[in-house]
Amino acid sequence: MTTNRRDFLRQAGAGMVAGMLPMSMVKLSFADQQQDFFFAYISDAHIQHIKGNQFVRNWDQGLIRAVAETNLLEPKPDFVVFGGDLAQLGTKPELDHGAEILSGLKYKTYAVMGEHDYYLDLGDYWSELYGDQYYSFDHKGVHFIVLNSILTYDDWTFERWPTAEQRMLEMAGLDNPNGSPFMVGDKQLKWLENDLSKVKKSTPVVVLSHSPLQKIYRGWNFWTEEAEQVQKLLKPFKSANVIYGHVHQIQYNQIDNIAFTSVMATAWPWPYPASYAQAESHLPMLTVPINRADPFNERDATGWQFINMHSGRMDMHFNLYDNANRTVAFNRERNRPEDIKYQPQSHRIPPQQHY
Ligand SMILES: [Fe+2]
Ligand SMILES: [Fe+2]
Repeated sequence: MTTNRRDFLRQAGAGMVAGMLPMSMVKLSFADQQQDFFFAYISDAHIQHIKGNQFVRNWDQGLIRAVAETNLLEPKPDFVVFGGDLAQLGTKPELDHGAEILSGLKYKTYAVMGEHDYYLDLGDYWSELYGDQYYSFDHKGVHFIVLNSILTYDDWTFERWPTAEQRMLEMAGLDNPNGSPFMVGDKQLKWLENDLSKVKKSTPVVVLSHSPLQKIYRGWNFWTEEAEQVQKLLKPFKSANVIYGHVHQIQYNQIDNIAFTSVMATAWPWPYPASYAQAESHLPMLTVPINRADPFNERDATGWQFINMHSGRMDMHFNLYDNANRTVAFNRERNRPEDIKYQPQSHRIPPQQHY
């Protein structure tokens, strides 16, 4: 892959003209531009059922619009990823309604399991709709891995919350100390190790997960228990990138050679937890200052995002509703993604140290 900043900014500019779209575009650029390709990433629709055929309008409209706009994209994406949390409680009517909307996509769609999609029957119905819960595929020289990172300890699943309703209601809130930490689990870790053992270290790897494969904030489950083990498996690769949903906000980080970025939700933004300040709660520290979404604006952090992955690293352009556009570009000298507007100083203090 090669640096192609000018193309990236031109593409980002084209997107701005097109207006705010409720999904993300991920472009992978290579030395030979003929090899470049895009995929679209829609995440966190949280379809919520009211009764009969009524659903909470804002959220199903967000997904309906994302599907319609994705179908109109030019150039056309090679495929679409849906990043999980199709449903809000996870009931069958919610999953069915969400799946019906997503079925309008004209492109091959890869689905990622979100925790809200899981609690009905621990993923069985979701698998009827979308097949395997973790898998890999190769596309134009890039190895893609989809993980189910929202598994729970059996203790929670079978003893504390034996019914679908209990699981759904317990996990519907953000700030619930009773929630089970998210897991990848031993079986999937073994599968991942085996899958990656067949991939050349020079092959770019892109991991698509629902929860962050880094430990950001346990109190809100911005967390995956075996994050370090997954990172260890990704570390030998020249280019490893993790793209995740779940957090409904702009996040980016860099750990060793692994670049992390979140994609925004079609449903609503989450604020940034003030408890980012509690150092023990978020390991590792967020190494890069990040700008906050406006938690009082229901569409903030639900805008359009363009990710350009060149030389194995991601640049992101965010076009936010009623908020300043942002570009987060990879700084090769400091080996980390940085917001180009907010980080001109060389020693900016990470946000958690402001508290
Ligand atoms: Fe979500
Ligand atoms: Fe989630």
